[in-house]
Amino acid sequence: MSLPPCFANASHEDVARAVPLIAVDAASLSKYLGKHSERVRRWVEAAGFKAEANATLLIPGEDGAPQAALVGVADVRDPFALSAGPFGLPPGIYALGKPGVANEGLRIELADAILGWGLGAYRFERYRKATRAPARLVLEDARTQTSEAFAILKATTLVRDLVNTPTEDMGPAELEAVALRLAKAYDGEVVTVLGDELLRENFPVIHAVGRASHRAPRLVKLHWGDPTHPHIVVAGKGVCFDTGGLNLKTGDGMRLMKKDMGGAAHALGLAQLVMATKLPIRLTVLIPAVENSVAGNAFRPGDVLVSRAGISVEVDNTDAEGRLVLCDALAYAAEMKPALVIDFATLTGAARVALGPELPALFCNDEALASDVLAAAARVRDPLWRMPLWKPYTSYLKSNVADTANSGSSRMAGAITAALYLQRFVPDALPWAHLDTYAWNDRDRPGHPVGGEALGLRAVYELLKARVGR
Ligand code: BES
Ligand code: ZN
Ligand code: ZN
Repeated sequence: MSLPPCFANASHEDVARAVPLIAVDAASLSKYLGKHSERVRRWVEAAGFKAEANATLLIPGEDGAPQAALVGVADVRDPFALSAGPFGLPPGIYALGKPGVANEGLRIELADAILGWGLGAYRFERYRKATRAPARLVLEDARTQTSEAFAILKATTLVRDLVNTPTEDMGPAELEAVALRLAKAYDGEVVTVLGDELLRENFPVIHAVGRASHRAPRLVKLHWGDPTHPHIVVAGKGVCFDTGGLNLKTGDGMRLMKKDMGGAAHALGLAQLVMATKLPIRLTVLIPAVENSVAGNAFRPGDVLVSRAGISVEVDNTDAEGRLVLCDALAYAAEMKPALVIDFATLTGAARVALGPELPALFCNDEALASDVLAAAARVRDPLWRMPLWKPYTSYLKSNVADTANSGSSRMAGAITAALYLQRFVPDALPWAHLDTYAWNDRDRPGHPVGGEALGLRAVYELLKARVGR
């Protein structure tokens, strides 16, 4: 496997002149200064460098060439501890624990260095090339230990790239093409139910939501793995653009809706990660891929759709389309009787109001699964927050003409009612986790540029590992 350009192999000829990279907090900075000359101390003081998180500083040697690079770290266990490096430091080659140089500073785990540095160097360059190269980090040759870290980096990058790609270049067919590419790379299989086949094969709700777009709706199924391994289904909301449908969103509300396939991007990123690391599971990824568009044949408020599960659904609001496409996918998932179902979806604005953009909401119908997911999230520092499937609020989804409505008049508890709607399509005995994720960074932070983001991806991967005893 070739290294991403923000890394250099230890055998690289330029490594001899790599600048030692020293991770410091306030305590280790003063220790560092105690061991170095008055000249270094004065330089650090003059620069006002206090080892605050994400601060960087080059230290000049006697000849003016850099003798070290300092990076401030608040928490060594933060996977993003080194994320300020690639663009906070000038282009060049840097080495943690350079051979022959005393290992000064804080110890950062290699896997965290790879993820943090790699994502710190992430940019979306499809339509505009960057003006500067990232600084490069030398990696000790420990490929076997680090291949998982690179797989996580690659999967996160895939999620970001898919979400960042505008709908014109990331419609239902393009999402399907990504699944096909992954299947080809890892010996999986893709079966797509396309356009009117959705009606023949009984996915009526996916069809209804997607039929107004000139880009045909589809259900993309990716199958991989040994049939004797535990079967896990991962579903992802693949609304390639959400106009709101006839319940049209405002201009502001629509502005970021290219990201409404973020759940699908997470499902595909997770699939890539599971396949690359060869987890002993049998994986099925389900992506209902549609555009929620406006046209004469669009589905309407008040329409009643009879879903795959036989549950009739009155469309209260065409903008609550994510739960619609997912309900047919979840019903189909349940028919396969898997060991576990997980879905990712940019499902509600309400989840953001409750928890903000950086903390996905977790809903779970199984206590053991919920605590395992939260424990996994904590281990890999990819936080999630559990919210309740609070049964009494099911009454918010009452319809006068159908078994359920897709939304209700109350604007209370929007993330919960969406999750309760989905829960109707999952048998109680089937462990299910639903992640309502934002899939986007609204603000720039080192390692987290504005744009598409994977949230909950590493947590769920860690959960799957734990479940199969890795
Ligand atoms: N895709 C949106 C949810 C969304 C909006 C996620 C903004 C992240 C940021 C979803 O399809 C939607 O529009 N949901 C509505 C549901 C409502 C009509 C019941 C919402 O959350 O407002
Ligand atoms: Zn919507
Ligand atoms: Zn949506």
